[in-house]
Amino acid sequence: MTDQAGATETDSADIPGKRTSASRTTLSHIMTHNDTNLLGTVHGGVIMKLVDDAAGAVAGRHSGGPAVTASMDEMAFLEPVRVGDLVHVKAQVNWTGRTSMEVGVRVLAERWNESTPPTQVGSAYLVFAAVDADGRPRRVPPVLPETEKDRRRYQEAQIRRTHRLARRREIRELREKRAAEGLDD
Ligand SMILES: CC(C)(COP(=O)(O)OP(=O)(O)OC[C@H]1O[C@@H](n2cnc3c(N)ncnc32)[C@H](O)[C@@H]1OP(=O)(O)O)[C@@H](O)C(=O)NCCC(=O)NCCS
Repeated sequence: MTDQAGATETDSADIPGKRTSASRTTLSHIMTHNDTNLLGTVHGGVIMKLVDDAAGAVAGRHSGGPAVTASMDEMAFLEPVRVGDLVHVKAQVNWTGRTSMEVGVRVLAERWNESTPPTQVGSAYLVFAAVDADGRPRRVPPVLPETEKDRRRYQEAQIRRTHRLARRREIRELREKRAAEGLDD
């Protein structure tokens, strides 16, 4: 079945929900000299790649098939990561829509030269769209939050979703208005 937005499977009401814990994933990686920037600490792009990898694994697990990154926002780098640190990237589905999922990611570093608990060094929110073999969006199972923390994350993700949609709409309207006024870039 194809509906008005191009999704190609049954209505998500027909798809059984999946618990948050069913797709939660941790990706761990030791940082090496290949990962550094000119200051000698780990390049932000290396961490972003790990974040996208972990979130992609979660989105694939949750949706039971391929999923592509639609957006990445609120990537925060809280502390520098250093060579030798063991980095843990923890990701889970915070929220699901019709064909998209918000994945929340926390990045922790175990300092190679300290016996302290892992430090949170970053966080990010990504939206993934589940796609079919032709790259068209397909329905995702509704996520079933299990704990109060999961439910809080679900509610916060809904706020971010509302803001993302509003921002996209406002920018599109501004561009249309400028184009109508003949204001070409
Ligand atoms: C993401 C993609 C599949 C969306 O396709 P589309 O034709 O715009 O389809 P839709 O408008 O129906 O969007 C599908 C879902 O993604 C969400 N979405 C699309 N773009 C988004 C964005 N920029 N930010 C957040 N969500 C987005 C929509 O809200 C919708 O969610 P819903 O069904 O839960 O309401 C398409 O833009 C794409 O393939 N992009 C490239 C992805 C990619 O290659 N990523 C890797 C980069 S190298």
